[in-house]
Formats: sequence, C-alpha cells, structure tokens
Amino acid sequence: MADFRARVKLKPLIRHAAIRNRVLAVARQITRDFRGRRVHLVGVLKGSCIFLADLVREIDLETSIDFIAVSSYGRGKESSGQVRLLKDLDSNIAGLNVILVEDILDTGLTLNYLLRVLRQRKPKTLRVAALLDKPSRRIRKVRTDYIGFRIPDEFVVGYGLDYAERYRNLKDVCVLQLPPAAV
Ligand code: IMP
Repeated sequence: MADFRARVKLKPLIRHAAIRNRVLAVARQITRDFRGRRVHLVGVLKGSCIFLADLVREIDLETSIDFIAVSSYGRGKESSGQVRLLKDLDSNIAGLNVILVEDILDTGLTLNYLLRVLRQRKPKTLRVAALLDKPSRRIRKVRTDYIGFRIPDEFVVGYGLDYAERYRNLKDVCVLQLPPAAV
C-alpha cells in the first residue's frame, strides 16, 4: 500500500525537537508568571490537543484542564468566517486563572469569539497560549500572551493541526501542498 504521505507534499517547517524546546520554554514562562497559583488550561479542540498535552506536563504548578470545541473551517483550507460553538466547557471558570490553548492564530476570528465567550464567565485572569501565529493573515486584532512560533502565510499540518481531519499525528509541523486536482 502506498505511504499516506505520498499523495501530498509535506515539507517540514518546524521540527519536533524545536517544538519540544519551545513548548518547554513557554511552560517555564507560565510557571514563573503564575508561581504558587493554580492554572486552568482550556484547550480548543481538536487542533490544540497535542500542544496542550505536552505543555501541561511541563508546567510545574497545580493545573486543571477542560476543552471547548468550535468550528470555523469545515473541511477546506479557508475560514468560513463564522464561528460556531460545538462543545462547551464542562465546568465553571469563574475566579480561575484561565489559559486558553490554541493550535494556531490565523485571522483571529476564532480567538476573538472565544475570548468574548470566556470573559463573560468572569475568570480571575484570562491569557492565551498559541503554538503558531500567522500574523500576516490577521483580520481581528487579538491579544496573545504566549506564542510558540511566528510562521509565514502557509497552510500547515501536524502536531495536532489537520487538513480534513488528517495529518494531526505528524511529529513536525509541515507545510501542506495538495496536488492541483485536490485543491
Ligand atoms: P482563525 O479563526 O482564522 O484565527 O483560525 C483559527 C483556526 O483555524 C485554528 O484553530 C485552526 O483550527 C484553523 N487553521 C488556521 N490556519 C490553519 C493551518 O494553517 N492549518 C490548519 N488549521 C488552520
């Protein structure tokens, strides 16, 4: 059977070792910033699951986690521009030090929506950790606190990020180039 990678072009952009180092640095920063306090990580499904799993294990504080799911992209590469809540949090975040954990910040529409929803629930603090940032694509201005890597305007997959639900399991973040027929 042909290798699943053979049908598309996957060009490594950020290698796993570099991701590991950067995740460690972000976790140390969070540990310093919240010394002695508990942090509540809210992962945005599904893209942030691998980043969150690695990040939380490097944070040397009392932690708790929850997940929220939104949809803005459907199956393609372009955002529909409309964000829908698919799965809400399991528990109340009032009074907690919340860190919203995102895979990638692109137009900023998703994060803008999520910050609005979460702010209404009166967390004690609300910060944002995003593994990747594509600043050139921004439509909405959003505040971020912890960024892993700034990347150019390319569609990337791997380390949790998908194209039509595939490639989340790649260890590196890769640029995805589809054959002309598939675009
Ligand atoms: P935004 O609302 O445009 O900022 O998009 C945020 C969401 O779009 C992310 O959480 C991803 O799920 C998805 N997304 C944006 N760019 C990419 C990409 O390059 N690869 C995979 N997913 C992406």
